[in-house]
Amino acid sequence: MDQICDGWPFGAVAPLFLFSLASCSSSCSAPSSTSTAIRVATVIHRPSRTYLPAFREASAFRNGDACGSQEGDKIHIAMTLDINYLRGTMAAVFSMLQHSTCPDNLSFHFLVAHSEPHLYSSIKSTFPFLNFKIYRFDSRRVRGKISKSIRQALDQPLNYARIYLADVIPRGVRRVIYLDSDLVVVDDIAQLWDVDLEEKVLAAPEYCLANFTKYFTESFWSDPELAKVFEGRNPCYFNTGVMVIDVDKWRIGGYTQKVEEWMNVQKRKRIYNLGSLPPFLLVLAGNIKPVDHRWNQHGLGGDNIEGKCRDLHPGPISLLHWSGKGKPWLRSEARRPCAIDHLWAPYDLYRSSRHSLEE
Ligand SMILES: *[C@@H]1O[C@H](CO)[C@@H](O)[C@H](O)[C@H]1NC(C)=O
Ligand SMILES: *[C@@H]1O[C@H](CO)[C@@H](O)[C@H](O)[C@H]1NC(C)=O
Repeated sequence: MDQICDGWPFGAVAPLFLFSLASCSSSCSAPSSTSTAIRVATVIHRPSRTYLPAFREASAFRNGDACGSQEGDKIHIAMTLDINYLRGTMAAVFSMLQHSTCPDNLSFHFLVAHSEPHLYSSIKSTFPFLNFKIYRFDSRRVRGKISKSIRQALDQPLNYARIYLADVIPRGVRRVIYLDSDLVVVDDIAQLWDVDLEEKVLAAPEYCLANFTKYFTESFWSDPELAKVFEGRNPCYFNTGVMVIDVDKWRIGGYTQKVEEWMNVQKRKRIYNLGSLPPFLLVLAGNIKPVDHRWNQHGLGGDNIEGKCRDLHPGPISLLHWSGKGKPWLRSEARRPCAIDHLWAPYDLYRSSRHSLEE
């Protein structure tokens, strides 16, 4: 049997690109020498043990006097939880706690694809005071609807969980901020939470200068029946990694079904090349509440194919997002960080990859 030893320590589920050591023994460990050859493995191997990274415990962030004492409304934040992105999730949560005036007001809703008790204990031991709940997202809901994209990582069922948020989180939650796991927030998230959605179902930074055409294929634009969906709208690109969603309106308006309908069209006829983003654009582009661009400085992971280093765009920043192929923790593991990754590193709570669990 092929021995694939992941430089990436979380061997259980395959991330998009596994850096693996060219030479390795049966005891896998994180790369320890820069001289070791690194190659990109395309073979996905399921080891018999799950390697769970260890994190240091974050300091306790508590509300100050200015936060008031009565039970107020919480700020609900939804994220997915996946062992491959765990290091990113920890950094994202840590960054939000650190920059919140009232950190106790944050309430996290984590969506997982499989029931994984070690993910719960990992969050709990890293953030002993965190308000959080974990929900199982039944990936069967989406399995038949995923069509292959240009990046394998985008095809993970959990990547589609954001479409089903309104069904997964409790009914009493009426607004939620959805966040990807490859970002850090460097401002008080309460400011994003307070956005006035007016009559809209979703708020996000909107990019009207981006070339919208390229998010859909020629066969989409050349079919007048399909392309007319944008009639009477001024559709602009928005990134689905940072969204404020009125989940009440989402439920009432049947938005999950609307997005699913486009995923069904995609199964019959290839109308786009990315994962969960284009069906969101089809349903909502041109009809969202725009928020300041500072809330999603995206693309820091580089492009979708190569993951080349990127620089910051000019302007103020409240949220840094490593969307694209390159992730700061992968580049750190591979000892090839981009300059921009040094802005992520202060939020990294990763200690070692030594913890292992028998499966
Ligand atoms: C934070 O929560 C407290 C107590 O639940 C509440 O009184 C206060 O209004 C909240 N503050 C903010 C800024 O949301
Ligand atoms: C936008 O993208 C499309 C498809 O890739 C291309 O044909 C078109 O020339 C681009 N438009 C501009 C203004 O760059």
